[in-house]
Amino acid sequence: MAKIIVFANQKGGVGKTTTAVNLGAYLAEAGKRVLLVDFDPQANASSSVGAKKDQPGIYEAMTGAADPSSVIQDCPLAPNLSIIASSINLTGATVELVDQADREFFLKRVLERVSGPFDFVFIDCPPSLGILTLNGLAAADSVIIPLQCEYLALEGLSLLLQTISRVQKGVNPRLQVGGILFTMYDSRTRLAQEVVQEVTGYFKEKVFRTIIPRNVRLGEAPSFARPINRYDPECIGAKSYQKLAEEVLANG
Ligand SMILES: Nc1ncnc2c1ncn2[C@@H]1O[C@H](COP(=O)(O)OP(=O)(O)OP(=O)(O)O)[C@@H](O)[C@H]1O
Ligand SMILES: [Mg+2]
Repeated sequence: MAKIIVFANQKGGVGKTTTAVNLGAYLAEAGKRVLLVDFDPQANASSSVGAKKDQPGIYEAMTGAADPSSVIQDCPLAPNLSIIASSINLTGATVELVDQADREFFLKRVLERVSGPFDFVFIDCPPSLGILTLNGLAAADSVIIPLQCEYLALEGLSLLLQTISRVQKGVNPRLQVGGILFTMYDSRTRLAQEVVQEVTGYFKEKVFRTIIPRNVRLGEAPSFARPINRYDPECIGAKSYQKLAEEVLANG
């Protein structure tokens, strides 16, 4: 059965998409079958792997306009990695779902139809705690929280953890916190070191040992529609995501 992991943090630009794409790419390289679900109307994950965005995607699968299995695309440059693309249409879902009684379960129902052949399903959420992220949390087995190593990054964390706890008590008791992942770490700044120390001291084994450093190559790869292992596999960012993939596999 597929392990469903959601990448969530309502703070923007913390590395949700970069992590979903590159962790997914390394798990795929290790022979796992990975389905990446772009669940953000910005469609950054779709662009990052070169998915076609002019055809039905996750929004159409959720609304019944397309058969869920028909919206899965193979990523041209990454064998074993598939994607359900997003588009700006998904913005409509945030409005349309609000009045539905079962509004948290639309994504879960799509994934029940398509997750069968995969080892991992990754859900890349938008930067908000709205209905899309709630659908992501409701559908997942575990949540990975990318955290940028800076002071303000911590401010939103307690709200996110409260939301996760509410989901666990309500719509998804199965949901576990898979881990907090430090991203864009700059070892030259004392603040980054302090954030890592403080958060690790508090959350202990819930923190991934692998820390993702700030690395320009990670920022460049999406504009070439490639995951980092197909752009610059020797750079420090690539090595870090490879290590993270090993850690995720070791954690079971
Ligand atoms: N470790 C890193 N080093 C350098 N740049 C990075 C790193 N991780 C991500 N980036 C870049 O930082 C920006 C934000 O990253 P990303 O898009 O992954 O964040 P996000 O949390 O998905 O953002 P959003 O909330 O808008 O969806 C992107 O331009 C990305 O390429
Ligand atoms: Mg993103």
